[in-house]
Amino acid sequence: MAQYNETTVTQAVLDSLANCPDPRFKRIMASLVTHLHAFVREVDLTESEWADAVQFLMETGKGSTPNRNEFILLSDTLGVSMLVVSLAQARKSATLKGATEATEATVEGPFYWKGAPDVPLGANLADGVPGEPALYCGRVTDIEGRPLAGALLDVWSGDGEGNYDVQLADPPTMRARGRLRTDAEGRYYFWSIKPSAYPIPDDLTTGTMLRRMGRKNWRPGHLHVMVSANGHVPLTTHLFVANSPHIDSDAVFAVRNSLVVEFEKHPPGKALDGRVMATPYHVANYDFRLAPAREPAMAAG
Ligand code: BEZ
Ligand code: FE
Repeated sequence: MAQYNETTVTQAVLDSLANCPDPRFKRIMASLVTHLHAFVREVDLTESEWADAVQFLMETGKGSTPNRNEFILLSDTLGVSMLVVSLAQARKSATLKGATEATEATVEGPFYWKGAPDVPLGANLADGVPGEPALYCGRVTDIEGRPLAGALLDVWSGDGEGNYDVQLADPPTMRARGRLRTDAEGRYYFWSIKPSAYPIPDDLTTGTMLRRMGRKNWRPGHLHVMVSANGHVPLTTHLFVANSPHIDSDAVFAVRNSLVVEFEKHPPGKALDGRVMATPYHVANYDFRLAPAREPAMAAG
């Protein structure tokens, strides 16, 4: 007869996976059980602490809706999202020659909204949105620096006061979002605002956890972008505003040095793209590099 106790239970759970037909799932579950049991032993978890943890997860589920995924917020603030993104990119670099030269990826975050309007190069994505105007420009290339014509940039950000459109009204109206394609030389340029630092939502369980951990819920100013082009690995990343408050303490651990961009301030006047600005504005210049989706076939012969 089976005898389960604090020394035998871990092996018993591992043995129960014997008939799992999916080897990858079996490996993941075996490792999860091993680490979870080791954690419970290490901190000598009490019954009431485990009950609190279960309650916390229940509330995280209850607080989640189609527009608000509290589990993603939990994953982001525990650094798991960024770990998964970084591992995926490192894995691709190991299997794909040159992929380390690709622009670094970051988390998508909860505020992506599929279906942003298609806009021409030079468009202002943030007409009437509070914030200091900024011209974003640069090129999309492959890892050899060859321009990628027709690459798609799907861009979104909060405003200059730290709010995303989806947080401002129910139902929300899209703003500070747009999709545009590079020209024949791989160039892109568009106007938006210089995003400010902002606090991530802290009204549900993630906020409770952060406060108990003595942590802040702020992110540095950033613009999100997904870049894609035929034959290349799609990229989801951020551009971070250099010297933004919280640049060294991002609540979701997404800052990478290679993504920090100077926002050069210019006086009113004619901007690089010919637009005449009545107020001071910023210019943020950044080139994106995409890795090939697979190794080019070996030349015949
Ligand atoms: C954001 O970038 O907007 C974000 C990312 C992760 C968690 C919360 C917000
Ligand atoms: Fe964001």
